[in-house]
Amino acid sequence: MSHVSSPRPMTARAGSALQGRIRVPGDKSVSHRALMFGALAVGRTTVRGLLESEDVLNTAGAMRAVGARIERSAEGVYAIDGAGLGSLLEPEHVIDFGNAGTGVRLTMGILGTHPIAATFVGDASLSRRPMGRVLDPLRQMGTSVIARSGDRLPLSIRGPEVALPLTYRVPMPSAQVKSAVLLAGLNAPGETTVVEPVATRDHTEKMLAGFGADISVTLDDAGARVIRLKGQPELKPQDIDVPGDPSSAAFPIVAALIVPGSDVTVENVLLNEHRTGLIATLLEMGAEIEILNERSAGGERVGDIRARSSRLKGVTVPAERAPSMIDEYPVLAVAAAFAQGDTHMPGLEELRVKESDRLAAVARGLEANGVPCREGEAELTVTGGAGRIGGGTVATHLDHRIAMSFLVLGLAGERPVTVDDGAVIATSFPTFTSLFAGLGADIADREGLTA
Ligand code: S3P
Repeated sequence: MSHVSSPRPMTARAGSALQGRIRVPGDKSVSHRALMFGALAVGRTTVRGLLESEDVLNTAGAMRAVGARIERSAEGVYAIDGAGLGSLLEPEHVIDFGNAGTGVRLTMGILGTHPIAATFVGDASLSRRPMGRVLDPLRQMGTSVIARSGDRLPLSIRGPEVALPLTYRVPMPSAQVKSAVLLAGLNAPGETTVVEPVATRDHTEKMLAGFGADISVTLDDAGARVIRLKGQPELKPQDIDVPGDPSSAAFPIVAALIVPGSDVTVENVLLNEHRTGLIATLLEMGAEIEILNERSAGGERVGDIRARSSRLKGVTVPAERAPSMIDEYPVLAVAAAFAQGDTHMPGLEELRVKESDRLAAVARGLEANGVPCREGEAELTVTGGAGRIGGGTVATHLDHRIAMSFLVLGLAGERPVTVDDGAVIATSFPTFTSLFAGLGADIADREGLTA
């Protein structure tokens, strides 16, 4: 399911304070993996709290195409009858991943070591994104690839009869690349090892262990994570409760900090240590944020996050923190626009290859709304508290997080902010406008509808 609906401009304007307790939808990374690992297990996996967004529903479609039965019984509740590792069927049709980088890259890993052929397509955004980072290690494991030059979608792969296990050092901080190699290693005899010099989100490692895979993580002398996986395990079905997505919670949290008089609590948010870089940064900026009701659920730390309007100050974000807040830089830049002084964000190479070139998209969006900023090759500096914010229209480039970030900017600006396409938000956070309306926010499309 590509994002084919026509662009839907949306406008956010300042109004009342934001108040309330909300729950954001399930974590996107965990939701993709729950469907994939359920499809590889033998037996029935149940999932509660699955994120029902376009990206994740595309992964459900892909897993059905290779033989899993996936049924929805209530909102966010799914039963997956696995096709079984090693027994995946060849898909009859092209698999359309729409906007979903995680979906397509992890699925390439899974299918790349099965002796079947598959063709992947995506929307204009996904078709521009680099796939060589996943295809290179897959080729070393025996996968054949037919791609147009530059290893971009559309492309086809065929897995070998027997794949080769691999030892692979991930060249960029990417959980998707790490995960694709590990998932390919599942159907290779012997041990696949991934060396990760810079730690990234570890949902694949944790969830594979939960499904019964023999996987271990150690640190080498240089501090790199060494992940060893024994191939061809029998994966056992699981019952999974998906906690709220911290990358979605980031929007109401930042909105509460910058809209005067606000007090918002987001309940049941995933607090995995590789996902909490934004909270650490906001606290350093002086944010009034509390983590309440912290607990462990399904092997992950979760909690409620309360955010109140705060006087923020600019900071330098350590470059090494980037992997733990990689999807949150656009909304951090929005918080920085309301902070006193400069916020400097180095180490942003990977932002150039997200759903859009996010570094450029953020810089252009800030400039269009009167926020001074400096864009470097891999860094951004935002000068806060200068001048009248708002009044511009932001090009979203099919990027859901650009759309949501700039709508948040509009909630605290002196003038409204318009994004050229709010429909892209359905990629990851379909309830965004209705949840914000419930908090008292003024976000509407051209017809004045809030959802
Ligand atoms: C994800 C990894 C990150 C992140 C994406 C989800 C995942 O991508 O930006 O939204 O679920 O593994 P990279 O691996 O490209 O950093």
